[in-house]
Amino acid sequence: MEIIKMENISKLYKSGQIKVEALKNISFEIKEKEFVSIMGPSGSGKSTLLNLIGCLDHSSDGTYELAGTQVNKLSDSKMSEVRNLFIGFVFQSFHLLPRMNALKNVEIPLIYRGLNSKLRRELAEAALEQVGLKDRMTHLPAQLSGGQQQRVAIARAIVGNPSIILADEPTGALDSKSGEMIMDLFIELNEKKSMTIVQVTHEEEIAEYGRRIIRLVDGQIVSDSLVEEKDV
Ligand SMILES: Nc1ncnc2c1ncn2[C@@H]1O[C@H](COP(=O)(O)OP(=O)(O)OP(=O)(O)O)[C@@H](O)[C@H]1O
Ligand SMILES: [Mg+2]
Repeated sequence: MEIIKMENISKLYKSGQIKVEALKNISFEIKEKEFVSIMGPSGSGKSTLLNLIGCLDHSSDGTYELAGTQVNKLSDSKMSEVRNLFIGFVFQSFHLLPRMNALKNVEIPLIYRGLNSKLRRELAEAALEQVGLKDRMTHLPAQLSGGQQQRVAIARAIVGNPSIILADEPTGALDSKSGEMIMDLFIELNEKKSMTIVQVTHEEEIAEYGRRIIRLVDGQIVSDSLVEEKDV
Protein backbone atom coordinates (compact mmCIF):
# COMPACT_ATOMS: atom_id res chain seq x y z
CA MET A 1 0.00 0.00 0.00
CA GLU A 2 1.28 3.48 -0.87
CA ILE A 3 1.48 5.74 2.15
CA ILE A 4 2.97 8.69 0.22
CA LYS A 5 1.77 9.52 -3.26
CA MET A 6 2.85 12.68 -5.06
CA GLU A 7 1.68 13.58 -8.54
CA ASN A 8 3.04 16.48 -10.58
CA ILE A 9 4.16 18.34 -7.48
CA SER A 10 5.77 21.74 -7.98
CA LYS A 11 7.02 24.23 -5.41
CA LEU A 12 7.64 27.86 -6.28
CA TYR A 13 9.19 30.17 -3.69
CA LYS A 14 8.59 33.87 -4.24
CA SER A 15 10.48 36.51 -2.35
CA GLY A 16 10.02 39.96 -3.86
CA GLN A 17 10.94 39.85 -7.53
CA ILE A 18 12.85 36.61 -7.20
CA LYS A 19 11.17 33.31 -7.95
CA VAL A 20 12.76 29.93 -7.33
CA GLU A 21 11.21 26.79 -8.73
CA ALA A 22 12.52 24.45 -6.04
CA LEU A 23 10.55 21.39 -7.25
CA LYS A 24 9.46 20.86 -10.84
CA ASN A 25 6.63 18.50 -11.58
CA ILE A 26 7.69 15.64 -9.34
CA SER A 27 5.81 12.34 -9.18
CA PHE A 28 6.59 9.29 -7.04
CA GLU A 29 5.12 6.88 -4.53
CA ILE A 30 6.45 5.42 -1.31
CA LYS A 31 4.91 2.28 0.12
CA GLU A 32 4.31 1.48 3.76
CA LYS A 33 7.41 0.13 5.53
CA GLU A 34 9.86 1.40 2.92
CA PHE A 35 13.21 2.95 3.96
CA VAL A 36 14.08 5.57 1.35
CA SER A 37 17.06 7.93 1.07
CA ILE A 38 16.90 11.20 -0.85
CA MET A 39 20.18 12.51 -2.24
CA GLY A 40 21.24 15.42 -4.42
CA PRO A 41 23.43 18.52 -4.53
CA SER A 42 22.93 21.52 -2.28
CA GLY A 43 19.91 23.50 -3.43
CA SER A 44 18.41 20.61 -5.41
CA GLY A 45 15.18 20.68 -3.38
CA LYS A 46 15.67 17.87 -0.86
CA SER A 47 14.54 19.79 2.24
CA THR A 48 11.72 21.38 0.28
CA LEU A 49 10.49 17.91 -0.68
CA LEU A 50 10.81 16.57 2.88
CA ASN A 51 8.86 19.57 4.21
CA LEU A 52 6.06 18.89 1.73
CA ILE A 53 5.97 15.19 2.62
CA GLY A 54 5.85 16.20 6.29
CA CYS A 55 2.94 18.62 5.82
CA LEU A 56 5.05 21.58 6.96
CA ASP A 57 4.26 23.46 3.76
CA HIS A 58 1.82 23.49 0.84
CA SER A 59 2.92 22.65 -2.69
CA SER A 60 2.31 25.25 -5.43
CA ASP A 61 0.81 22.68 -7.75
CA GLY A 62 0.00 18.97 -7.98
CA THR A 63 -1.63 16.45 -5.68
CA TYR A 64 -0.28 14.83 -2.54
CA GLU A 65 -1.96 11.91 -0.83
CA LEU A 66 -0.74 10.90 2.62
CA ALA A 67 -2.26 7.67 3.92
CA GLY A 68 -5.24 8.20 1.63
CA THR A 69 -5.86 11.83 2.61
CA GLN A 70 -5.46 14.50 -0.05
CA VAL A 71 -3.19 16.89 1.82
CA ASN A 72 -3.02 19.69 -0.76
CA LYS A 73 -6.72 20.36 -0.22
CA LEU A 74 -6.46 20.73 3.56
CA SER A 75 -6.39 23.96 5.59
CA ASP A 76 -3.26 24.75 7.60
CA SER A 77 -4.84 23.56 10.85
CA LYS A 78 -6.08 20.28 9.34
CA MET A 79 -2.64 19.81 7.84
CA SER A 80 -1.08 20.19 11.30
CA GLU A 81 -3.46 17.58 12.65
CA VAL A 82 -2.46 15.13 9.94
CA ARG A 83 1.21 15.93 10.59
CA ASN A 84 0.84 15.35 14.31
CA LEU A 85 -0.82 12.01 13.77
CA PHE A 86 1.33 10.50 11.02
CA ILE A 87 4.76 12.14 11.05
CA GLY A 88 7.81 12.19 13.30
CA PHE A 89 10.63 14.59 12.39
CA VAL A 90 14.36 14.31 12.99
CA PHE A 91 16.70 17.21 12.14
CA GLN A 92 20.44 17.59 11.64
CA SER A 93 20.79 19.92 14.64
CA PHE A 94 18.49 17.89 16.94
CA HIS A 95 16.19 20.85 17.87
CA LEU A 96 15.94 19.90 21.55
CA LEU A 97 14.82 22.45 24.12
CA PRO A 98 17.97 23.24 26.16
CA ARG A 99 16.28 23.84 29.55
CA MET A 100 14.28 20.63 29.53
CA ASN A 101 15.70 17.22 30.37
CA ALA A 102 15.51 14.29 27.96
CA LEU A 103 12.23 13.04 29.39
CA LYS A 104 10.49 16.43 29.11
CA ASN A 105 11.76 16.93 25.56
CA VAL A 106 10.31 13.58 24.52
CA GLU A 107 6.95 14.36 26.17
CA ILE A 108 6.40 17.50 24.10
CA PRO A 109 4.50 15.97 21.15
CA LEU A 110 2.14 14.24 23.58
CA ILE A 111 1.09 17.52 25.19
CA TYR A 112 -0.59 18.45 21.90
CA ARG A 113 -2.52 15.21 22.06
CA GLY A 114 -3.99 16.08 25.43
CA LEU A 115 -2.63 13.05 27.25
CA ASN A 116 -2.36 13.24 31.05
CA SER A 117 1.05 13.62 32.66
CA LYS A 118 1.27 10.06 33.97
CA LEU A 119 0.63 8.55 30.54
CA ARG A 120 2.96 11.07 28.90
CA ARG A 121 5.72 10.07 31.24
CA GLU A 122 5.19 6.35 30.66
CA LEU A 123 5.26 6.73 26.89
CA ALA A 124 8.30 9.03 26.97
CA GLU A 125 10.18 6.57 29.20
CA ALA A 126 9.35 3.72 26.82
CA ALA A 127 10.56 5.76 23.82
CA LEU A 128 13.83 6.64 25.59
CA GLU A 129 14.30 3.01 26.51
CA GLN A 130 13.75 2.07 22.87
CA VAL A 131 16.63 4.34 21.80
CA GLY A 132 18.89 3.02 24.58
CA LEU A 133 18.81 6.05 26.88
CA LYS A 134 16.94 4.72 29.90
CA ASP A 135 19.83 5.84 32.12
CA ARG A 136 19.93 9.40 30.76
CA MET A 137 16.33 10.54 31.21
CA THR A 138 17.06 13.38 33.62
CA HIS A 139 20.03 14.74 31.68
CA LEU A 140 19.80 18.09 29.94
CA PRO A 141 20.75 18.18 26.23
CA ALA A 142 24.07 19.90 27.07
CA GLN A 143 24.92 16.96 29.34
CA LEU A 144 24.58 14.48 26.47
CA SER A 145 26.86 13.64 23.53
CA GLY A 146 25.75 14.57 20.00
CA GLY A 147 24.75 10.98 19.23
CA GLN A 148 22.77 10.79 22.48
CA GLN A 149 21.03 14.09 21.73
CA GLN A 150 20.03 12.76 18.33
CA ARG A 151 18.67 9.63 20.00
CA VAL A 152 16.57 11.82 22.32
CA ALA A 153 15.30 13.59 19.19
CA ILE A 154 14.41 10.22 17.68
CA ALA A 155 12.61 9.21 20.87
CA ARG A 156 10.62 12.46 20.58
CA ALA A 157 9.87 11.63 16.93
CA ILE A 158 8.57 8.13 17.72
CA VAL A 159 6.80 8.73 21.04
CA GLY A 160 3.45 9.38 19.33
CA ASN A 161 3.85 6.18 17.32
CA PRO A 162 3.85 7.84 13.88
CA SER A 163 3.63 5.85 10.63
CA ILE A 164 6.45 7.83 9.02
CA ILE A 165 9.79 9.17 10.22
CA LEU A 166 11.24 12.03 8.16
CA ALA A 167 14.88 12.87 8.77
CA ASP A 168 16.84 15.75 7.21
CA GLU A 169 20.58 14.98 7.41
CA PRO A 170 20.13 13.04 10.70
CA THR A 171 23.84 12.14 10.83
CA GLY A 172 25.14 15.43 9.43
CA ALA A 173 26.38 16.73 12.79
CA LEU A 174 27.72 13.41 14.06
CA ASP A 175 30.96 11.45 13.82
CA SER A 176 30.76 8.25 11.77
CA LYS A 177 30.40 5.90 14.76
CA SER A 178 27.42 7.84 16.18
CA GLY A 179 26.02 8.09 12.67
CA GLU A 180 26.08 4.31 12.33
CA MET A 181 24.23 3.96 15.65
CA ILE A 182 21.51 6.27 14.38
CA MET A 183 21.22 4.22 11.17
CA ASP A 184 21.04 0.96 13.15
CA LEU A 185 18.22 2.51 15.15
CA PHE A 186 16.39 3.52 11.96
CA ILE A 187 16.73 -0.03 10.63
CA GLU A 188 15.29 -1.38 13.89
CA LEU A 189 12.35 1.06 13.78
CA ASN A 190 11.79 0.19 10.14
CA GLU A 191 11.94 -3.59 10.57
CA LYS A 192 10.53 -4.11 14.07
CA LYS A 193 8.05 -1.22 14.35
CA SER A 194 7.19 -1.16 10.65
CA MET A 195 7.78 2.57 10.43
CA THR A 196 8.22 4.08 6.97
CA ILE A 197 11.46 6.08 6.88
CA VAL A 198 12.45 8.85 4.47
CA GLN A 199 15.83 10.45 5.08
CA VAL A 200 17.83 13.13 3.30
CA THR A 201 21.60 12.71 3.27
CA HIS A 202 24.73 13.86 1.45
CA GLU A 203 26.62 10.70 2.33
CA GLU A 204 26.45 7.69 0.03
CA GLU A 205 27.25 5.29 2.90
CA ILE A 206 24.41 6.63 4.99
CA ALA A 207 22.05 6.59 2.00
CA GLU A 208 22.76 2.88 1.51
CA TYR A 209 21.25 2.02 4.88
CA GLY A 210 17.98 2.62 3.05
CA ARG A 211 16.75 0.18 0.45
CA ARG A 212 15.92 2.75 -2.20
CA ILE A 213 17.63 5.97 -3.27
CA ILE A 214 15.85 8.86 -4.97
CA ARG A 215 18.23 11.40 -6.51
CA LEU A 216 17.25 15.01 -7.12
CA VAL A 217 19.00 17.50 -9.37
CA ASP A 218 17.67 20.99 -9.88
CA GLY A 219 14.21 20.20 -8.49
CA GLN A 220 13.68 17.06 -10.54
CA ILE A 221 14.06 13.32 -9.89
CA VAL A 222 16.95 12.07 -12.02
CA SER A 223 17.05 8.54 -10.66
CA ASP A 224 15.08 6.27 -8.37
CA SER A 225 16.64 2.87 -7.73
CA LEU A 226 16.91 0.05 -5.24
CA VAL A 227 20.09 -0.40 -3.22
CA GLU A 228 21.79 -3.69 -4.01
CA GLU A 229 22.01 -6.15 -1.14
CA LYS A 230 25.59 -6.36 0.07
CA ASP A 231 27.35 -9.58 1.00
CA VAL A 232 29.04 -9.04 4.31
N1 LIG B 1 11.84 29.64 2.13
C1 LIG B 1 12.44 29.80 0.95
N2 LIG B 1 12.27 30.93 0.23
C2 LIG B 1 12.86 31.09 -0.97
N3 LIG B 1 13.63 30.18 -1.56
C3 LIG B 1 13.86 29.03 -0.89
C4 LIG B 1 13.27 28.78 0.39
N4 LIG B 1 13.66 27.55 0.81
C5 LIG B 1 14.45 27.07 -0.16
N5 LIG B 1 14.56 27.95 -1.19
C6 LIG B 1 15.32 27.70 -2.46
O1 LIG B 1 14.84 26.52 -3.05
C7 LIG B 1 15.90 25.72 -3.54
C8 LIG B 1 15.89 24.35 -2.88
O2 LIG B 1 16.21 24.50 -1.50
P1 LIG B 1 16.31 23.27 -0.49
O3 LIG B 1 16.51 23.83 0.86
O4 LIG B 1 15.14 22.38 -0.69
O5 LIG B 1 17.63 22.53 -1.01
P2 LIG B 1 18.41 21.27 -0.41
O6 LIG B 1 18.51 20.26 -1.49
O7 LIG B 1 17.79 20.85 0.87
O8 LIG B 1 19.88 21.88 -0.15
P3 LIG B 1 20.95 21.57 1.04
O9 LIG B 1 21.61 20.26 0.66
O10 LIG B 1 21.90 22.72 0.95
O11 LIG B 1 20.22 21.50 2.33
C9 LIG B 1 17.17 26.51 -3.31
O12 LIG B 1 17.51 27.18 -4.49
C10 LIG B 1 16.79 27.48 -2.22
O13 LIG B 1 17.53 28.67 -2.31
MG1 LIG C 1 18.43 20.86 2.88
